[in-house]
This record gives sequence, C-alpha cells and structure tokens, in this order.
Amino acid sequence: PIPIFTTVADYREWRRKAFIDNKSVGFVPTMGALHDGHLCLVRRSLQENDLTVLSIFVNPAQFAPHEDLAIYPRTLERDLQVLMEQRVADRKPSAVFLPTVKEMYPGGIHQDVAHQKGSFVEVKGYSEQMEGKSRPTFFRGVATVVTKLFNAIEPTNAYFGQKDIQQAFLLRRMVTDLLLSHPSPDHLHIVPTARDATDNLALSSRNVHLSPEGRKVAPVLYASLRAAEDCWNKGGSKAECIDAATNIIQQQIERVKEQGTDVRLKLDYIEMNDAGSFEVLGDNVGRAEKSDGAVILSGAIFVDQTRLIDNILLGSA
Ligand code: PAJ
Repeated sequence: PIPIFTTVADYREWRRKAFIDNKSVGFVPTMGALHDGHLCLVRRSLQENDLTVLSIFVNPAQFAPHEDLAIYPRTLERDLQVLMEQRVADRKPSAVFLPTVKEMYPGGIHQDVAHQKGSFVEVKGYSEQMEGKSRPTFFRGVATVVTKLFNAIEPTNAYFGQKDIQQAFLLRRMVTDLLLSHPSPDHLHIVPTARDATDNLALSSRNVHLSPEGRKVAPVLYASLRAAEDCWNKGGSKAECIDAATNIIQQQIERVKEQGTDVRLKLDYIEMNDAGSFEVLGDNVGRAEKSDGAVILSGAIFVDQTRLIDNILLGSA
C-alpha cells in the first residue's frame, strides 16, 4: 500500500530522508474525487521525479459560505484504489498527504472571510478577474492553502492543470513574489486539460453532480469557447468573438427550452484577459494587437446548480 501521512510532522520525516538521498519529489495537490485529469498530473510527476506525493484536502477557505463545500464529492476509498492501480512503468505515487482541517489551519478556519483570524496569502491584481470576479474570496483561499502545502511538502516540482488556468498562473506569480524555492517558479508545471474523448467536456470532480440531461448540454461551454477562438484566429475583435461564444450558449438555452427538459442552463461569464497581467482586453482588441502575448479565453456556466469552467489559451504562452 501507499503510505498515507495525516500530519505534517510525520510527512517531514519521510521528506528529510528524500532530501538526504537526493531524490526529487513531485507534488500533485488535489481536493480528491480523482478523475483522469488528476491522473494526467500524477503521470507527469511520476515520469519526471524519483518520488511523487499527492495530497487530498478539501480546503474550506476557498469555498464561500453559500458555495458547495458540504456537497463537494468525497470518495477517499475509491481515490486510494485508483492511485494503487496507477502505473507508469510500474510506478505508483510514493505517498499520499491527507491532512485534517485542524492540521492545515491550526488556529481554526471560519468560512466567512469577515470572521477569519490569522495568516492568509493574497495575490493582488490577479485574484479579482475571471473566476475571482464571480468568486471574490476564492483565490485568497487557494493561495493560502497552496503556500501551506508547499511549506509542508517541499516539492522539487509541482503540477497543476490548465483546466484552472488562472489558479496555475496566479500560483506561479505567488511563488515568484514570495521567493519560494520548493517549488521554484520554473518548477511549477502546467498540464493540458484532460477532456471527455467523445464530446470534449473538461473532466471535473463536479461533473458527478450533473443529471443525464445536464451532462448532455455541459459540453456547450467548450464549444462556445472554440467558436470564440475561431473568430479570434480569423481576425475578429474581442467583442465579436465573445458575442460568437455567447450566441452558441444562447442557442443551447433555447434548444433546452424547446425540448421541454428541465435543465437550467445559465451563462456566468465569458472573458478574454492578457495571460501575463490578467488585464481584461479592450472590446476592439484583436489578434493583430496581441501578437506579443498570450490571451486567456475563459468562461463559466451553470448547469442546474453545478458551476462549470473551461478555457483556451490563445497565442503562444
Ligand atoms: P482540484 O479541483 O481537485 O484539482 C487538482 C488539480 O487537478 C488542479 O491543478 C486542477 O487544475 C487539475 N485538474 C482538474 N481537472 C483537470 C483536467 N480536466 N485536466 C487537467 N487537470 C485538471 O484545484 C484544486 O483542486 C484546488 O484548488 C487545489 C489546488 C488543490 C487547492 O486547494
């Protein structure tokens, strides 16, 4: 079986030995309910490191009081089973870090930011756009827990998914700003989004909440982003390309109504931001004006109560 550490102190003994033996440690932080997207990160880590640590911790600080912390899927037994079966040239993850809330937040953690006490990490100017606009306290919770995890795990390399592109870029910014060395900024790796082979829906732990009808309409988000990408590549302005995406979603909303199914589909946002500064692009900006840098095309929809996100990187990252 894979060793499971529930305390930082126990993990650190194991980590000290890895330092002494000069072994590289790859780290994959997760909130569990593992799917093939998570496993893509695990495979990368297994390939590139002597040892791989996966953490499972549903971080209360990144859920607002009205969000889905209570119903976030928790499938620990299955997760451990999946990891045991994971083989890359006969290698499995070397350790699982499974801390309690008390271990990660020794001073306790209140769901409501207004009542929180203690130490938090903010990445200002990078937390307010895109996902941060819809979820104002989300990235403070993510940056805080990932700092704690990096301090505990001391990874040589860390792996994040493009699925959560703002999270990955923001964490790279944070590692640079705070002069972290485990991992160093260039050892924080971003792995392409794993998708359903037939309809390209981005794999997500939250997909289990979708009804069969909801699951059928969910791929519309990526389809709409692809329409915007197409528009962009043909020289369209930001406003035109976002219109193209919005239209696809609007059509789907009408189709759902016509069919009389009781799926509720709602657009949260579709936006285009500079990949370096996260600044929102001006309406008239097109590909020609952005020839110097990459652009994040991202969006979120609600399918019934479930919020789904996706993104495409335009230009070279
Ligand atoms: P979680 O949603 O469990 O995701 C863990 C990691 O898996 C993240 O880096 C995420 O981007 C990646 N991932 C999820 N779906 C993916 C997909 N379809 N393809 C590729 N990678 C995918 O993200 C979090 O947890 C948390 O915010 C965390 C970083 C653990 C901090 O609490």
